[in-house]
Parts: sequence; structure tokens; C-alpha cells
Amino acid sequence: MKTISLTIDDKKIAAREGENLLWAALDNGIYIPNLCALRDKSEPSASCRLCFVEVEGYSQPVTACTEPVREGMVVNTKGAKALRLARAGLELLLASHPVDCAHCLANRSCELQKIAAHLRIRLKSKHFRKILRELPIDDSHPQITYDPNKCVLCGRCVWMCRYKGAGVLGFAHRGFERVVTTFGDEPLGESKCLDCGECVSVCPTGALVFKDEKKA
Ligand code: FES
Repeated sequence: MKTISLTIDDKKIAAREGENLLWAALDNGIYIPNLCALRDKSEPSASCRLCFVEVEGYSQPVTACTEPVREGMVVNTKGAKALRLARAGLELLLASHPVDCAHCLANRSCELQKIAAHLRIRLKSKHFRKILRELPIDDSHPQITYDPNKCVLCGRCVWMCRYKGAGVLGFAHRGFERVVTTFGDEPLGESKCLDCGECVSVCPTGALVFKDEKKA
């Protein structure tokens, strides 16, 4: 595949023509917040709305996970408009996320912590009114605990379960009621789960964790 060159944050980089800007940036040590993108997934869902960047010649920020790189492209990951959108997106997520990091198995590996630090947002941000759902935790699986309260609905686990697992995970309901669950809402331990753990490996928060084990 042809190699092209572009500039991100004043750094000239090389990338494969047609690849998404998000991966080109990350592969060159330039961090752009992201929660829903997966490299194996060719069609990005672009649902988390955290990967906004500004591109020279564009009137509005774009999501880096959906933007293909182009020869001579000039990108700014730190523009005020892009940061404002990303910060608002993160604060909305945090408004419905229980922030109790000290008691979470994903502490220090949680993507929300990383993104909050990058965007300089307090995890206990008071920008939006906090509304927590208090859904029951599914502890039925022998190796995996699923806490839907910590789920950010990025959809990574749903996609990965279909791609590498048995396809037992899916979305149910709409709006604020939306949740990742199993077919028929049966407990994970009673589902056709293959125990592959791929869902845990891609979960960016402490929603899906291996029992008694720190996330990698
Ligand atoms: S990573 Fe781009 S919208 Fe989620």
C-alpha cells in the first residue's frame, strides 16, 4: 500500500494511504482520546465522540477514527473546538459513571482515567448532573464479572464477542436505558459464552473484568 506523509501537531509522519487518522496518530506516539475504535473493526462505530481533531481546511472538527489520512494533511489534536467537544463528551460519560476508582479492578488501567488526565478533566466533574443507574452486577460467570453501571456503551465487547467469541453480547433498549446484555438478558454464566475473555480484553473501563485480577 502507498505511503503518504501528513503533519499532526507540527510533527511530520508517514502513514498508509487510506488508513484512519486515529491509528496513524497512535502509531506515531500522538495520543488522541478514544473509547469505541478497534483496529480489527474496519467500520468504526464512532459512538464515543471523544476522538475529535481539527484538520486544516475543514470548518468543523472531525472524528479521527472515521477520517482517512491524505497526502499533505495538516492536523491539530489540541485545537480549542476539538477539545471542547471531547471534554463535553467525556463529562457526559462521567455523569453516569460511578467514580470509585480505589475499589475498581480497572484502577490505573481504565481508559476514562487516561482520557480525563489527557483532557484535564476531573473524574468527579460536576459540570453535568450525576445520574447513576444502579443496575445489578452479573457475577454468575466463573471468571468474569460484568458491572453494567461501569459500562460506557462503547460497543467494543459486543463487536469482539461476535468477531472472536460466541456472539452472546448485544445491546438492548434505547436512550438512557441502553445496556449491553446477553440474549434474553440471561446471566453471563448461563449464556453460551466461550470463556475466551476477549470482551474483557477490549473493555476500556471496569465494566468487564476478570475476577480477582487486575486488568492488564
Ligand atoms: S474513537 Fe472515534 S468516536 Fe469513538
